[in-house]
Amino acid sequence: MANDSLQQAKRVKNDEFYTVYDYIQKEINAYLEYDPDTFRDKVVLCPCDDPEWSNFTRFFAQNFEMLGLRKLISTSYSMEAKKAKYEQYHQMTMFETYFPQYDESKAVTKGKIFTLTRESDKSGVIDFDDLEWQYLEGDGDFRSDEVKRLRDEADIIVTNPPFSLFRDFVNWVFEANKHCIIIGTIGAAIYKEIFPLIKGNLLWIGATNNGKDMVFEVPEGADVDPKDREKAAKLGYVGNYTRLGNACWYTNINHGRRHQPLNLMTMADNLKFSKHKQIRENGYQRYDNYDAIEVPFADAIPADYDGVMGVPITFMDKYCPEQFEIIWQASGNAYANAPAGVMDYLRFDPTIKYGGGLGAAVLDGKAVYSRILIKRVKG
Ligand SMILES: C[S@@+](CC[C@H](N)C(=O)[O-])C[C@H]1O[C@@H](n2cnc3c(N)ncnc32)[C@H](O)[C@@H]1O
Repeated sequence: MANDSLQQAKRVKNDEFYTVYDYIQKEINAYLEYDPDTFRDKVVLCPCDDPEWSNFTRFFAQNFEMLGLRKLISTSYSMEAKKAKYEQYHQMTMFETYFPQYDESKAVTKGKIFTLTRESDKSGVIDFDDLEWQYLEGDGDFRSDEVKRLRDEADIIVTNPPFSLFRDFVNWVFEANKHCIIIGTIGAAIYKEIFPLIKGNLLWIGATNNGKDMVFEVPEGADVDPKDREKAAKLGYVGNYTRLGNACWYTNINHGRRHQPLNLMTMADNLKFSKHKQIRENGYQRYDNYDAIEVPFADAIPADYDGVMGVPITFMDKYCPEQFEIIWQASGNAYANAPAGVMDYLRFDPTIKYGGGLGAAVLDGKAVYSRILIKRVKG
């Protein structure tokens, strides 16, 4: 792993990354453009979200009436349970002391539940100021029985969950058969728990910010690489912000981008006119161990090729199920987790020697970085 990615992975393990309001607004707008009633009469749950610093809760509360929500529920994780401790959290809880339900013995150890269903402050609109709250029985872990009950009550779960628990979180959403709009990393698309959902068109990449840097707010005192801080500042976020180059939205709610096919050239045209020298000079190479060709860039996928093609993971955010079918992945754990028959269909040759786990595509004796194996949909 390159040093840069390693650093990024380490920072991701520290789960305290807060989503910027604009990204939430842009993503939610994309669902509304596709179907203005996406949220109408729905219960939305934000299960990793303290409204003091979660823009998810803020966004849904401020847009409660415009979206036509029935109920907003937001739960927070207790300060004591958080892996990273920041002085800022203690300052933030100061707000609790103003409320009659404040309980010093619970302030650090318990999670909280915030709900919004009606106007409570006679302002004439239902908004953030109408959120009501109380302490949870436990620490607010999304895996607890009490938060599971809230999940079961919800129609749509929207959050940026802890990246370190992304697999568990997706499983938690799917075991209850819920809709979701959540943030993860594009690399998670090939996790053995996540990939079958994507292949089966049960989960897909969201509508906005694909392949771009995403800025996150971090608590005062968080360890941020100066380069990331600088990049965030260039994007207009100055101060306690960082950026990730590999974050993206995941969802199982329809949006328009997902149905826009990639505009591609034929193989002959790519060989002549591709902007990638590698394609013009080397053409499309066949893997040593799969009956498939290597396509190292999504924009160089030949429109008229009928066989299996290996494309980078970043293809996922361009994937249109009407244009391509995902057959499987070629990566270190592809062989161990493959459904029956898939590796035979791909004419996988397990005897070919190379570095890396069994299943990575091999080109001229060398393992290629993880690939998604796709085939065009005819018709
Ligand atoms: C990536 S941050 C995002 C916070 C917020 N959703 C946002 O986007 O601004 C994930 C949050 O989940 C909290 N968290 C970690 N483990 C959790 C768990 N098991 N259950 C609930 N929340 C958890 C972390 O403390 C952190 O505040």
